[in-house]
Amino acid sequence: MLEVRDLRSGYHGVTVIKGLSLEVGNEVFTILGANGAGKTTLLATMARLIPLMGGELLFEGEDISKVPPWESAARGIGYVPQEKGLFPELTVGENLNVGGMIGDRDRQERVDEIYELFPDLAVLEDQLAGTLSGGEGRMLACGRALMQDPKMLLLDEPTAGLSPLYVDMFFESVTKIHETRGVGIVLAEQNATKALEVADRVMVLSLGEAFVIEEAGNLTTEQLKEGYRI
Ligand SMILES: Nc1ncnc2c1ncn2[C@@H]1O[C@H](COP(=O)(O)OP(=O)(O)O)[C@@H](O)[C@H]1O
Ligand SMILES: [Mg+2]
Repeated sequence: MLEVRDLRSGYHGVTVIKGLSLEVGNEVFTILGANGAGKTTLLATMARLIPLMGGELLFEGEDISKVPPWESAARGIGYVPQEKGLFPELTVGENLNVGGMIGDRDRQERVDEIYELFPDLAVLEDQLAGTLSGGEGRMLACGRALMQDPKMLLLDEPTAGLSPLYVDMFFESVTKIHETRGVGIVLAEQNATKALEVADRVMVLSLGEAFVIEEAGNLTTEQLKEGYRI
C-alpha cells in the first residue's frame, strides 16, 4: 500500500533519513529506534509535511512524493503527530467534526464509531480539547485522524509519557483499529516490548537507516540492542 524507495529527508541540508526503502501493507508495522534515530522525521515525511531530499514515496501505486499534506490525507494517509495536534479552543466533539471534513460518509455515524472505540471521549464531548489530560488528548488526536476514514494510519509515539493504564488501553485500540477497520498502521514507538506485541513486522531505525526489518516475532534482543546503539 505504502512504498518508500531510497528515501532521503531532513532539515536545512541536514540529512536525517539516509536512503530508506520499505513497504507497508495492511498490517501493523512498528518502527523502533533510539531518541533522535529519525522516527518523527520519517513519519512526517510520509505524511508529506517534510519535503523529500531524494527517493520516492508511493501510495497505492501512485507517486505522492510531491503532493501537499491535505492531498495525502485525502488519499487515505492519516497522521497523528507526536505532539497532540488538536485545536485546544474547540471541544472534543468539534475537533472530531473538523477531522471529518475529509470523507463523505455520514459525519455523526463516524463520530459515534470513534466514541465506541474510545468511550472516554463520549463523556468528554463538550469539554475543550486544551483541558484534556495527556492520555485523553492522544485518544482525541487518534480519533480525529480516524474521522477521515484513512486506509493507513501513521502514529508517532502515541503512548509516550502516558500512565501504564493508558499505555495498555492504547495498544489494545491499535489492534482494534487494524482488525475491525482494516486500517494499515505505522507505529513509531519507544516502548519496544508492548509495540512488538501488537506488531506484525518491525523496523529498527538507527541513525536514519534501517538496521533491520523483520517479522516482529523473529526480532532478537541482540538486534534490538545493537539497533538502539548510537
Ligand atoms: N526541526 C528540526 N530542525 C533540525 N533538526 C531536527 C529537527 N527536528 C529533528 N531534528 C533532528 O533530526 C534528528 C532525528 O530526529 P527525530 O526524527 O525527531 O527522531 P526521533 O523521532 O526518532 O526521536 C535528530 O538529530 C534531531 O535533532
Ligand atoms: Mg520522535
